[in-house]
Amino acid sequence: MAVIVIVGAQWGDEGKGKVVDIYTGFADIVVRYQGGNNAGHTLVVDDRKTVLHLIPSGILHSGKRCVIGNGVVLDLNVLLEETAALRAAGHFQNDSQLVISEHAHVIMPYHRSLDAAREAATGNRIGTTMRGIGPSYEDKIARRGVRVMDLYDPARLRAKIEERLAELNPYFVQHGADAFDVQAVFDEIIAHAERIKPFVSNVSVMLNEQIQKGRHVLFEGAQGTLLDIDHGTYPYVTSSNTIAGGACTGGGVGPTAITGVIGISKAYTTRVGGGPFPTELHDELGKRLREAGEEYGATTGRPRRTGWIDIVALRHAVRVNGLTGLALTKLDVLQGINEIKLCTGYKADGQVLTEFPLDSSLLERCEPVYESMAGWNQPISDIREFDDLPANTQRYVNQLESLLDIPIVLVSVGAGRPQTIVRRNPFRDERKKRDSNP
Ligand code: IMP
Repeated sequence: MAVIVIVGAQWGDEGKGKVVDIYTGFADIVVRYQGGNNAGHTLVVDDRKTVLHLIPSGILHSGKRCVIGNGVVLDLNVLLEETAALRAAGHFQNDSQLVISEHAHVIMPYHRSLDAAREAATGNRIGTTMRGIGPSYEDKIARRGVRVMDLYDPARLRAKIEERLAELNPYFVQHGADAFDVQAVFDEIIAHAERIKPFVSNVSVMLNEQIQKGRHVLFEGAQGTLLDIDHGTYPYVTSSNTIAGGACTGGGVGPTAITGVIGISKAYTTRVGGGPFPTELHDELGKRLREAGEEYGATTGRPRRTGWIDIVALRHAVRVNGLTGLALTKLDVLQGINEIKLCTGYKADGQVLTEFPLDSSLLERCEPVYESMAGWNQPISDIREFDDLPANTQRYVNQLESLLDIPIVLVSVGAGRPQTIVRRNPFRDERKKRDSNP
């Protein structure tokens, strides 16, 4: 049995959707364990683009079960829009393909308004996706959130909405927004509740049973390590644990069940929203990476900030996630650049730092220390074997492997599913092991 967690090793948008989609082919169950519809996976399958914000991309494979764990915050509108769009496109024809934790928290309409009102009041300081993610997690931690199970206890649901709006409505009015009507919010949520009922279940029980039976499970992280609420560039982070440990708390499985953790990194770095970014490029090269890599947010359409690959930050990701392998995406975007830089250290306040600082003001002062490598001009998007890549491309990948001291298990050379060089696949390895030791 293989239970693999896949996590973003940078600031999100590493191309997780495609990598997850490839490994999903070998898994039986795919689980989202944190975040909400602040994530966005753009998938290109048979030349058709599908963007999913909430439902695991595994839903595109008929016969796979997709799970939304208790650690996720759930916008019911988005969930229902996605199920409808998937069905219209001929996917998700069987209800049993989707399982939603009864313990997941619900993003309420007032959470979205609160996110927007706060960002407006602070001049978009954090640059949130304004999907109500932070306010929903706040209510969860403050023990006043609405859980999926509350949707089926109308009296409890109404009391929670009443209690929350009694506190929030004066804030909205004070900030020039409309107050919410308790009955209208209640009616909207109750209407959605009936429609999602067939999917609601105890995910922890189900997952542990399936793992016991030897099923292959893939936990799909959203956002990235540096956006983790504890291990990211606080306060410029999202409100959940994006790192591999989040799979345990957000799925209800113990750490001993996890058999491997794959991080995903682009061959360079991007970030959306505010916060420090030591290797950011503000010049023509930065623009070139943005255009060649189509670096515009799948969720908000915002242009992403771009820069060189950052080994200091990636080493941090290797450590806090316990990565057993790294998938390197968008390698083709670097093609045609004569000199490629890798940041191997930071200088700040007259010192050289080798560990990634989690103090955002210190990180802001960090100057990257670079090592340079020669680039390549040949297009690589049609290459399917690692040994057929240009020598300098291979050298770049090998250098990353040696600086990070973990195997690079997959290299992506284009957006399409076939444009991938899979060097190691933990699910396939596990199947082989099982076949040779029946
Ligand atoms: P929130 O998750 O909407 O609260 O936003 C908090 C921070 O996380 C902001 O800087 C967002 O731009 C960033 N963020 C949230 N989701 C993603 C994502 O999927 N990719 C990249 N950045 C994200």
